[in-house]
Amino acid sequence: MLTRTLVKDAHNAPAAADAILLQGWIRTRRDAKTFSFVELNDGSCLKGMQVIVNDSLPDYAELMRRSTTGASVSVRGKLVPSQGAGQKWEVVAEKYAVLGEADASYPLQKKGHSLEFLREIAHLRPRTNLFGAVFRVRSRMAYAIHQFFQERDFLYVHTPIITASDCEGAGEMFGVSTLDPLNLPRDAEGNIDYAQDFFGKKTSLTVSGQLEGETFACALSSIYTFGPTFRAENSHTSRHASEFWMVEPEAAFLDLEGDMQLAEDFVKHLIRDAREHCAADLEFFGKFVDKELSARLDFVLERPFQRCSYTEAIDILQAAGKKWEKNVAWGDNLQSEHERYLSEEHFKCPVTVYNYPRSLKPFYMKVNAPDAAGRETVRAMDLLVPGIGEIIGGSQREENLEVLRENMRHHNLNEQDYSWYVDLRRYGSVPHAGFGLGFERMLMFVTGVANIRDVIPFARTPGNAAF
Ligand code: 4AD
Ligand code: MG
Repeated sequence: MLTRTLVKDAHNAPAAADAILLQGWIRTRRDAKTFSFVELNDGSCLKGMQVIVNDSLPDYAELMRRSTTGASVSVRGKLVPSQGAGQKWEVVAEKYAVLGEADASYPLQKKGHSLEFLREIAHLRPRTNLFGAVFRVRSRMAYAIHQFFQERDFLYVHTPIITASDCEGAGEMFGVSTLDPLNLPRDAEGNIDYAQDFFGKKTSLTVSGQLEGETFACALSSIYTFGPTFRAENSHTSRHASEFWMVEPEAAFLDLEGDMQLAEDFVKHLIRDAREHCAADLEFFGKFVDKELSARLDFVLERPFQRCSYTEAIDILQAAGKKWEKNVAWGDNLQSEHERYLSEEHFKCPVTVYNYPRSLKPFYMKVNAPDAAGRETVRAMDLLVPGIGEIIGGSQREENLEVLRENMRHHNLNEQDYSWYVDLRRYGSVPHAGFGLGFERMLMFVTGVANIRDVIPFARTPGNAAF
């Protein structure tokens, strides 16, 4: 029996072939006098394969009646040099079968469709050129992430998705409960009695695997997690999703400097890998999504990323002579417009901002000695890139037991709830650091696609969990 050949391999065939089997979906069909052109796409690459179906084939008329856009077909034939321009090979069908017809309501007709419309048919959009390309790149980048860390002896750890701790302390968590919402058990004070819940305590979907990751780094030296994370923040922006994937390396004996370097090497590795292994898809994005993409990616690869402290960043923003939507003073969070100004206009390059005010950041970050003005900062870093803003957030972690305890009190955290985390500082504490890369934001950066909803298979955002 003839085994199936992927369209991508057929395009790269070194020689003509007497018999080849292709299977996929029809993108277009064009009829000539004595034959039809059927363009078949199987998702293995951007470019479809041109199939010539001659009218000498039995049932030709009936087969072509059924061969409409969207139908699935199985084609056995000869791979021959193409007469037409634009492709090396084409297939002359000898056996042609329609596996599944697509009726006239098939929504992906030849004309272009808006991204908004395609989001409403997220189950069919992978059949378009754009989304085929996005999800091939997504798959390749996931592979490249593992490759980067495995080659550097980072061990892959599966941190839990259900957790009882709030890593980022922002309280933006989705609860996980089997209690009956219409009949909630109450304790003596009238609060919900989570002791009666499934896990015997209040639990949520994780916002980050970092805390659990740290426990493994403090045993196996260098680890990474890569999995889904969940945030119940009500942000309606093109960069926020309620469910997204995060890559979080954590390494013992690593300081903030080393952490920033790791982040830079990592981002460059992913871009280099995409250039090498997804060239045709990136070319497509450069043509139809973002004309500047190719130049920007080259530029990012060629130059070292810039680094600047939060305090310097505030000085730069105040001296920019811009009318900000929100003015900035030392101690304020950087807004998206500030982050983008720094990377797009001031440095014109990815920039890592480090040493943020202590009051802005979670309890686990290592506290610096106060500056000359007595201001307190922590060893945090955010990597900001043109077009998006923050794609990485990380820090050196507080390894001193007493300082960590003080931080927890400062953030109103109950030490008992985090006793296992505190233990790491009690038994063989080491300097350690790590970061989180938002996988979808990285994909936006690599593809030029402007909305996070279009780089994730099925987006979850406030008010939307279709499919
Ligand atoms: O800066 P964040 O909140 O950092 C942490 O969660 C740390 N615990 C990571 C660590 O040090 N191990 O999130 C990290 C990254 C952000 O830089 C951003 O790229 C992405 O995760 N991110 C989101 N991506 C999509 N939608 C959201 N709502 C996101 N929130 C954060
Ligand atoms: Mg952050």
